[in-house]
Amino acid sequence: MTDLRRYPDAPSVAAAAGELFIAQAKTAIAERGVFHAVLSGGSTPRAVHAWLAERASEVDWAHVHLWFGDERSVPADHPDSNVGMAHETLIDRLPRAQPQVHPMRGDLPPSEAADHYEAELRAVFGNDVPRFDLVFLGLGDDAHTASLFPHTQALTESSRWVVGNFVPKLDTWRITLTVPVFNRARTVVFLVTGEGKAAALRSVLHGEREPDRYPAQLIRPDGGLLWLIDDAAAGSLGGA
Ligand code: 6PG
Repeated sequence: MTDLRRYPDAPSVAAAAGELFIAQAKTAIAERGVFHAVLSGGSTPRAVHAWLAERASEVDWAHVHLWFGDERSVPADHPDSNVGMAHETLIDRLPRAQPQVHPMRGDLPPSEAADHYEAELRAVFGNDVPRFDLVFLGLGDDAHTASLFPHTQALTESSRWVVGNFVPKLDTWRITLTVPVFNRARTVVFLVTGEGKAAALRSVLHGEREPDRYPAQLIRPDGGLLWLIDDAAAGSLGGA
């Protein structure tokens, strides 16, 4: 079931995402004693993290595991690092009780980083496909999500949970969770803001089903799928 929620602007999308994180954390911790959340990279999540950092007292961080959907092939102190961005905007701003953070090792060669992360997932989830409580994802203007870029090898990976993925258009390697893992999640939330995403969003939601061209179309989780978008990204989607 796809749930599309439209907000006036990016700050209100960030607030909605933060509220969802808090609510889902409370439910997961009450039901299972732990909340496993996957953070997205890029710039959109920065506002969500800042919003959450302001309301840190509302989350029982000692029972939270923070994972990453993807990472650039750079060390954590590199300006492009997703784990570096998460530390700067959220993790390092949390009070005493700290979450368990599981960074992808962008400092390792991509295939080693993928093996390392898959081993870390198995250590926590066992040998069944990890079932995350909440996954945040962004959308590129080319309809990529995480580091599942159009026409790249990772799109068809059906057994590995984490892979290194070479992205020709960027001439760089990425590390990314794979489609089976994203689709096992209890809730996946896309955060899409800005007019630059309008065309990609329209193609993903209303275009032909062409996942090799629009990889975000591959994300069809067992659980809930929410799109939190602002008016600028909604563009000509129409409807509510
Ligand atoms: C990354 C992200 C990527 C991102 C989109 C949108 O590592 O860059 O995982 O998939 O979510 O590219 O990025 P923005 O939020 O910067 O628009």
